Amino acid sequence: MLSKKIEKALNNQINAEFYSAYLYLSMSAYLQDISLTGFANWMRAQYEEEEFHALKMYDYLLERSGQVKLETVKAPPYRWKNIIDVFETVLKHEQEVTRSINELMTLAIKEHDHATANFLQWFVDEQVEEESTVSDILAQLKLVGGKGSGLFMLDREAAQRKFTPPAE
Ligand code: FEO
Repeated sequence: MLSKKIEKALNNQINAEFYSAYLYLSMSAYLQDISLTGFANWMRAQYEEEEFHALKMYDYLLERSGQVKLETVKAPPYRWKNIIDVFETVLKHEQEVTRSINELMTLAIKEHDHATANFLQWFVDEQVEEESTVSDILAQLKLVGGKGSGLFMLDREAAQRKFTPPAE
């Protein structure tokens, strides 16, 4: 049985994951609009990944007989200055998500909810990977000054990304 505190915190995190999905979908539309179709594809895959995170948590809540309470997802921004601004926003956002997952983990430990702590470890590891991937892309974008043939090459690389749900 989940404690009410954990149930509420998991529901909040589901909302945060859906917001992430929404944010990345909005970024995908913006990138498509400025003709960076490879990065638009990358961001759309990121949107799918965030939806997967939300549903992974949703399934866990149900599995533990918790109550799923879906809340309003706030509207994301829809304009950025350029591609570097987009990835700087992504990095800041993911650092915020990491903070929120860590808080959830701390709560699970405090409540002696080992099953939830164990479940959350997957998200802790995932955040390390997400922050690292985004930092690398941001560094490469800065290296080419966010324009020209360097940007064209990075966009072509970003076009290769596909989201495949990890095997359970
Ligand atoms: Fe669901 Fe990007 O962390």
